[in-house]
Amino acid sequence: MKKKSNHFSGQIGFVLAAAGSAVGVGNLWRFPYLAAKDGGGLFLIVYLALVLTFGFTLLVSDIAIGRRTKKSAIGAYTEMHPKWKFLGILTFLVPVLIMTYYAVIGGWITRYAVVYLTGSAEAAAGDNYFSAFISSPVSPVVYALLFMGVTAVIVYKGVQGGIEAVSKWMMPVLLVLVVVVALYSLTIRHTDESGQLRTGLQGFLYYLTPHVEGLTVSRFLQILLDAMSQLFFSLSVSMGIMITYGSYVRPEVNLNKAVNQIELFDTGVALFAGAMIVPAVFVFSGTEGMSAGPSLMFVSLPKVFAAMGKAGVFVGILFFVTAIFATLTSCISVLESIVANCMEIFHTGRKKTVHVLAAIYLGASAVIALGYSAFYFEAELPNGSTGQLLDIMDYVSNSVLMPLIALLSTILIGWVKTPEFVIEEMERGGRAFHRKKVYVIMIRYIAPVMMLILFLQSTGILQ
Ligand code: PFF
Repeated sequence: MKKKSNHFSGQIGFVLAAAGSAVGVGNLWRFPYLAAKDGGGLFLIVYLALVLTFGFTLLVSDIAIGRRTKKSAIGAYTEMHPKWKFLGILTFLVPVLIMTYYAVIGGWITRYAVVYLTGSAEAAAGDNYFSAFISSPVSPVVYALLFMGVTAVIVYKGVQGGIEAVSKWMMPVLLVLVVVVALYSLTIRHTDESGQLRTGLQGFLYYLTPHVEGLTVSRFLQILLDAMSQLFFSLSVSMGIMITYGSYVRPEVNLNKAVNQIELFDTGVALFAGAMIVPAVFVFSGTEGMSAGPSLMFVSLPKVFAAMGKAGVFVGILFFVTAIFATLTSCISVLESIVANCMEIFHTGRKKTVHVLAAIYLGASAVIALGYSAFYFEAELPNGSTGQLLDIMDYVSNSVLMPLIALLSTILIGWVKTPEFVIEEMERGGRAFHRKKVYVIMIRYIAPVMMLILFLQSTGILQ
């Protein structure tokens, strides 16, 4: 096969590219935070149960639809049912919105990697370092543009020459790095001012133990919803990305195996990320040290690294390089799915499409990067939180559109097209679709109800 063809070379290339999309900041800063907040092992059990049922259902659907139609979201849903073209357009909107801010986050991470590599780790642990950085007018923009530019160059090089080539080495290296740092985390110990000794092993046990003390039904529901929304953000489903990647998979690839491997990779990295972060934070800051979202990565962890002494600089470098790999391969997938949809709609070639989209998103990234300085404002979001430009984009794409798309697509597949549409693709070439029964029950009955509840909850309607 020629290098230029619009296909992954085979199963491994596809699995690593899809895992590259799936493994991102969601695994590194959201999963560990949720695990620590939602009862440690209890969250892990709920999450694993959902991966095998609900996550599996959405992942199988996206990838099978992509491979069967050989199209991206808009074309794929239109081909499935012309009246459902609107669902393709809604799905297309998710990466369109995410792309405006993903490179901004990638830029922040790159900046921290540079800071650690150039020996200024101590400064990064300062109290206001992060807020001073993101609210400065130049540096966040420069790093966002750099990240966006690198992403565009890789996508420009195409499916095999760009995306697959990069994912094939970055993902295995990333896996090794999280395992190494997680093992290191188990070995650390620290005595605080009050003389209390805490060890990495204790932190690890805290992470694994199912904390069910005082568990109520409503708290359990909250944990379930947290796990569910984390799950489909983490697997990059219901945003058209896996449809696009699925459309590049050759007919002879066994999708059953590929789906298992992608789930395993994504969940494995999340579990190791938890094992690396929860014990480290526990040892140096106790159980209160786990903060949410960006501040975990950019405020709490630098403090933890500083408390580790000399080793902390090295661990910090490993951590932020890991994070760059995770974010870059996700960012690539977001841009690729926009590019692929546009190529189909406008009948343009890859190069021209990438040029135009790169120009648009360099501009958009700069605007979002300025959301903490020149364009700063505070908006009240319907779910009760306040946010800046970046949070608004994130809220609309992840809390409103994604659950809505997942809900509509389960109705389309489960009831309008019937699950056979997906099952036939999974069984192509006589392959066995082992979890077929689970798939049918999930896609027709359970997933639509779960998605409706999640949609009502994350849009604030249910509060
Ligand atoms: N799946 C990625 C993560 O877990 O961090 C996040 C992500 C990737 C979101 C790609 C959106 C996206 F388009």
